[in-house]
Amino acid sequence: MSTSARTTASITRLGHQGDGVAEGPLFAPRTLPGEVITGIVDGSALGDIRIETPSEHRVQAPCRHYKSCGGCQLQHADDGFVAEWKQGIVRNALTAQGLETEFRPIHTSPSHSRRRATLAVRRTKKGAMAGFHGRASGVITQIPDCHLLDPDLLAAIPMAENLALIGASRKTPLAVTVTLSDIGLDVLVKNGKPLDGPLRLSLAQSVEKLGITRLTWDDEQIAMTQPPTQTFGNAKICPPPGSFLQATRDGEAALLAAVQDIVQGAKRIVDLFAGCGTFALPLAKQAEVLAVEGDPEMIQALEAGWRQAKGLKLVKAVARDLYRRPMMPDELNPFGAFYEAAVLDPPRAGAEAQVAELIEARTKTIAYVSCNPVSFARDAKVLVEAGYQLNWVQVVDQFRWSSHTELVASFTLAD
Ligand SMILES: C[S@@+](CC[C@H](N)C(=O)[O-])C[C@H]1O[C@@H](n2cnc3c(N)ncnc32)[C@H](O)[C@@H]1O
Repeated sequence: MSTSARTTASITRLGHQGDGVAEGPLFAPRTLPGEVITGIVDGSALGDIRIETPSEHRVQAPCRHYKSCGGCQLQHADDGFVAEWKQGIVRNALTAQGLETEFRPIHTSPSHSRRRATLAVRRTKKGAMAGFHGRASGVITQIPDCHLLDPDLLAAIPMAENLALIGASRKTPLAVTVTLSDIGLDVLVKNGKPLDGPLRLSLAQSVEKLGITRLTWDDEQIAMTQPPTQTFGNAKICPPPGSFLQATRDGEAALLAAVQDIVQGAKRIVDLFAGCGTFALPLAKQAEVLAVEGDPEMIQALEAGWRQAKGLKLVKAVARDLYRRPMMPDELNPFGAFYEAAVLDPPRAGAEAQVAELIEARTKTIAYVSCNPVSFARDAKVLVEAGYQLNWVQVVDQFRWSSHTELVASFTLAD
């Protein structure tokens, strides 16, 4: 229930979505700890917020779209604050499990480095407009000066608008996912008109004109001028449309450097939740790799990339659901062989079942990459209780100005 009287509140912390939290709890978006604010209470939220006493960490948002756009949550805070806050989330998750460790300095991707974006694109009376959904609304905000996206993605906005002119219904906005590949734009469209002969033809005729390398409409490939490859180490892979990729090339490089540091010296490495080979293929310069991933098309892409690459050691690629069927100790240590190190990069749910088998297999070294500090800390506790040492953690922030937190951690089995 909303009342029109203004309430004064003191922000004590940020919640997991990046909103300020005051006693109640009352959630106040775009406020910072230590700030005194006034606003109108609406359920557990404060609206129409005025900052009475600003935090010393409050800054002018660098992007002119920040006020209306929902893409970023933390542009009103300085970089030091955001770095501390993200590291604090990981530290607190570990503390809740009774763990502590060294933190290596955070790595934050620069502005204008996002390699993929999903644009909402709708038809208008005059034509079409593309952007991000606004804050807590379905309204589309145009983002020509977005500070997140790589300039080549920003330059692709008119292409997305043209696709809407060709194939969006009047009612439903398109979701256009644009990924920068080595050679051009890899485009996946959802929510468009159903494909029929004329639509297929007009889309296919527009591909070159719009500078698209591959166009996929729902699940159907419309055209591909060249394979939209991504380079992982010595290998070039052509990922299935829309499949997982690290958010920035810079963040990918930072994660890979940390993983390489952890598993250095290992001659045989198992990469679990391997995707298209972000880690497996660069690691194959130094070690034999067993790459396991749930999506068979991603595994095919990884394998094809490895076959064409030069100078790599053996990579065995296996498609398998690691939640239902984690790799077992006899597979991790097949007769006469031993995977000395594992890379583990699971989805948000973590890797409970696989961690149990790595412990049974006595895998010596584990590089754990995680996008969820809570499931990571839960798995870390199990590893530590089984005799592993948590050597260090590094937060890698490729989702700048968002509330998202990502990390790499080094574990070794104590002798
Ligand atoms: C965070 S991504 C990491 C991918 C890869 N390591 C990378 O950096 O590009 C997690 C991966 O787990 C895969 N995955 C999701 N559920 C899975 C399951 N049940 N079994 C195996 N892999 C799964 C996803 O397809 C995705 O590629």
